[in-house]
Amino acid sequence: MDTNSEYTISDSGKILENANLIKKYHANLVYDYTEYPTKGNWKETFGEKEYLNCILDWYPKNKTKPVLFYVHTPFCEQLCNFCLCSKEITQNYDRVKDYLYNYLSKELDLLENFLLKNDVKFNYKEIYFGGGSPTYYKEKEFEYLINRLKKFIDFKNLGDFTVEIDPRRVDEDRLLFYHEMGVNRLSFGIQDFDPGVQEEINRPQSPDLVHKLLTDKVRKLFPVINFDLLIGLPRQNINTITQTIKHVVDLKPTQLQTMYVHYKPGTRKYMIKMVRNEPMLDFYDRKAVFQTASKKLIDAGYTRAGFESYALPNDPLASSMKDKQAVYNSLGTQKGEATNFIAVGSSAHGVLNDDYYFQNFYEQPLYRKALDENKFPIYRGLKLSEDDAIRREVIRHIRTFFNIEFDYFDKKYSKNFKKYFEQELNRLKSHESDGLVTINDNNVILSPLGEHFSPQIANIFDVYNDQEFYNKST
Ligand SMILES: C[S@@+](CC[C@H](N)C(=O)[O-])C[C@H]1O[C@@H](n2cnc3c(N)ncnc32)[C@H](O)[C@@H]1O
Ligand code: SF4
Repeated sequence: MDTNSEYTISDSGKILENANLIKKYHANLVYDYTEYPTKGNWKETFGEKEYLNCILDWYPKNKTKPVLFYVHTPFCEQLCNFCLCSKEITQNYDRVKDYLYNYLSKELDLLENFLLKNDVKFNYKEIYFGGGSPTYYKEKEFEYLINRLKKFIDFKNLGDFTVEIDPRRVDEDRLLFYHEMGVNRLSFGIQDFDPGVQEEINRPQSPDLVHKLLTDKVRKLFPVINFDLLIGLPRQNINTITQTIKHVVDLKPTQLQTMYVHYKPGTRKYMIKMVRNEPMLDFYDRKAVFQTASKKLIDAGYTRAGFESYALPNDPLASSMKDKQAVYNSLGTQKGEATNFIAVGSSAHGVLNDDYYFQNFYEQPLYRKALDENKFPIYRGLKLSEDDAIRREVIRHIRTFFNIEFDYFDKKYSKNFKKYFEQELNRLKSHESDGLVTINDNNVILSPLGEHFSPQIANIFDVYNDQEFYNKST
């Protein structure tokens, strides 16, 4: 097998000639498998005690494993109609300061004291500031947070330190300041450059605004720059996405995540504002827009890096795909250096690989109440069984590399893959007859057509969320 061919889109353009197939396999996907078991299956009986025990259980066996430290900032100045992230919209900076100085700091104190007391010294290799909008912090607060982290994280030991950037809220000086603070990777929320689409999603920001930020100096200091784009927004079509990608290619980010937008007006009522003039794209148009974006990016020299990601050939993400080190998780396709997360801030979730998931309260009052009572604000979590861990790895390989090499799993888990997943391999036979996968003696390979349905194919291996459920909800 030509191992590079998996990452090009080759003839996956044929997807658009297969409307019936798209309809058959399209499912109202609520899960994109950034975690498995998916969050709805984590247990609320997993609280503070379980969280602390899980650290004590995991750490002695994994002292040198790289850990990413995630910090969540749940505030934004203005609402984007598509947004599913956990955030509060406010113009009151005192509210942001109160969160940082009185709550996030307290959570950091609790964590630092617990780790010190138990002689736990994680090998922190990455930091990730996500949101909401970490760009909301003014320099004074940002610097306070960095100094607080420096008390227990050795910044000299860090690889990537990423900040999610809302380009409307920063200027070149701010980006240079981030560099001084140790940040070396920027992830910009771009979403779409078409003015009509931007109007629907309430996210006006021109290519020029981003261009002014990405000065030579900034590019030199931040060798990795990621853009997030969304696929399936109202008023997107082949022409608008072609223009958007033209601007993107001019701006030359080294990485891109092109995510299908999730539409959940049931949990976020404001999302209906996005469809006040035009509907969300249907199952066929989403694929057409995705396919167009994909093709234009590949034509411009990007390589595909998993289901929804792209990288320039000299970006570390591209090499991690070649080395099979890349990992798909809640931060997109990552180069896989640190796959264990310790996370702070409301809604933040962590993972100690193959063993545990845990998550803080989403709601500010619950998050704050726990900290007021000097408790870790843990909302839910899960201890993974061996079966969960194996299935998670299978799902990751489907989503990232579009294949399952049986040997890898036989060796890693001392199981006979074909026997262990006999039922799932049988269920995949109908996908094989539709041309989505090839089932060989040693592997399952998704065809270029099947790559488009990798979440649905991953779902076959999900014992918690039944495929029937998806099909009924289409
Ligand atoms: C939480 S935002 C933080 C970035 C920053 N606040 C900004 O918007 O510039 C991170 C990313 O989540 C993605 N996202 C938000 N809502 C989404 C949705 N409904 N479906 C898929 N992805 C979504 C967006 O692409 C966004 O860039
Ligand atoms: S997309 Fe970013 S800026 Fe917009 S509301 Fe969500 S978190 Fe805030």
